[in-house]
Amino acid sequence: MATINDNYLKLKAGYLFPEIARRVNTFVEGNPEAKIIKLGIGDVTEPLPEACRTAMIKAVEDMGDRSTFKGYGPEQGYGWLREKIAAQDFQARGCDIDASEIFVSDGAKCDTGNILDIFGKNNKIAVTDPVYPVYVDTNVMAGHTGETNDKGEYDGLVYLPISAENNFIADIPTEKVDLIYLCFPNNPTGATATKAYLKAWVDYAKANDSIIFFDAAYEAFITDDSLPHSIYEIEGAKDCALEFRSFSKNAGFTGTRCAFTVVPKQLTAKASDGSEVELWKLWNRRQSTKFNGVSYIVQRGAEAVYSEAGKAQIKALVDFYLENAKIICDKLKSAGFEVYGGVNAPYIWLKTPHDLSSWDFFDKLLQTTNVVGTPGSGFGAAGEGYFRISAFNSRNNVEEAMKRITEQFKV
Ligand code: MLT
Repeated sequence: MATINDNYLKLKAGYLFPEIARRVNTFVEGNPEAKIIKLGIGDVTEPLPEACRTAMIKAVEDMGDRSTFKGYGPEQGYGWLREKIAAQDFQARGCDIDASEIFVSDGAKCDTGNILDIFGKNNKIAVTDPVYPVYVDTNVMAGHTGETNDKGEYDGLVYLPISAENNFIADIPTEKVDLIYLCFPNNPTGATATKAYLKAWVDYAKANDSIIFFDAAYEAFITDDSLPHSIYEIEGAKDCALEFRSFSKNAGFTGTRCAFTVVPKQLTAKASDGSEVELWKLWNRRQSTKFNGVSYIVQRGAEAVYSEAGKAQIKALVDFYLENAKIICDKLKSAGFEVYGGVNAPYIWLKTPHDLSSWDFFDKLLQTTNVVGTPGSGFGAAGEGYFRISAFNSRNNVEEAMKRITEQFKV
C-alpha cells in the first residue's frame, strides 16, 4: 500500500478558516432566517478596480487574435509587470530591487508555503504567537516540527509571544534562529513596525546568518508616512530578507489571484557541504519546474494597478476599508471593548469581553448577533482571549454588525 506524508497527521483538525465556515454553516442550517455578516476571513467584498477590469478585457481580446495570442508565459512573470513592480513599489521608495528579483505568482499564501521547498530540514524557525497560521502549518507539513503540546504549540518551533504587554511587537530573540517570519502590517493583530524595529531584526539576521521572511501583503494600508512599506527600506535587508507581496488586499484580487515574491540576488544560505548558495537560483529553479506562471490576462490586470487611474482607484478601495476599520474601532471602543490595530491595517484585534475564551466569544457572537469574526486562539496559543474582526466588507454590513454587537455587549 502507498504511504502518506505522516506530518499531515500532526496538523490540528482543520485549517482555521474552513473550520469557521463549517461552524457558520452548521449554525445557518439550524437558523436559516439568520442574516449572517462575515467579518471573519479577510476576504475583500468591493468590485475590482475599473482600470484592472478594462486591462483584463483588453487582454481577453488579445487572446482572441492570433497576432497577440499568448501561450505559456515566463514562469517568473512578464517583464512589463516585473519592471513596473520594481520601479514603483521599490525603486520609488529608494529600495534597490531589480525587476529580475521579482517573481510573480498566484498568491502570497502559496509563496510563503512553497518557499520552504528551497530550505533545509534542520533550520531553527521562529514565528510570532499569534501568527498567520499558514506559516506554522506549512512547516508542519514539511516535517520541520514535532507534535503539539497541550497548548497547541509545535515542538521544534520558536514562538515569540506578542500581546498587549509588548504592544504586539515581538522581542528580538536572544537565541539564534535561522528563519524568521515577520508580517507587517500584522495579520492578525493589525500592529505595525517602525524602521527602527525592522532595523533591529535586520541587524539580528545579519549577525546570526538568519533569513527573514517578510510578509508585506497589507503594506497598502499604511497611511503613516514614517512607517516602512518594505523591509528593503532598511539598509542591509537585501542580504537577509525575502519579501512577499500581494494584489489581493489592495486591488481586490483574492479571487483573481496575483502576487509576487522578492528574492534578492545577493541572498544566500548554506548547502550541507558548507558552500553558500544563492537563493534566487534555487527559487528560480523551483518556480520554473513547479509553476507555469500567472495567466496573461491576470498579469495585465495587475499591471493596471500601476497606471495613474489604477493607483487612484486602489487608493479609494484601501481608504474605503480603512474607514470601515475606523468605524469598527470607534464603535467597539465606545462599547467598552479593549481594541488594537485597525489603523494602518485592515484588522481589528480585541480582547474578548468578560474573559471569554476566543471560541466561546465566537459562538456567542454568532448566536446572539449573527456576526462572524475569527477567534484569536486560531492564530496560536497566545491569541487565546483575543478576537479578530476584519474590515473587509460593505459599509452597510460593517455598520449593521457594529450596531448589533454594541447593542448586545456592554463591556
Ligand atoms: C486572513 O483572513 O487571515 C486572510 O484572508 C488570509 C489570507 O489572505 O490567506
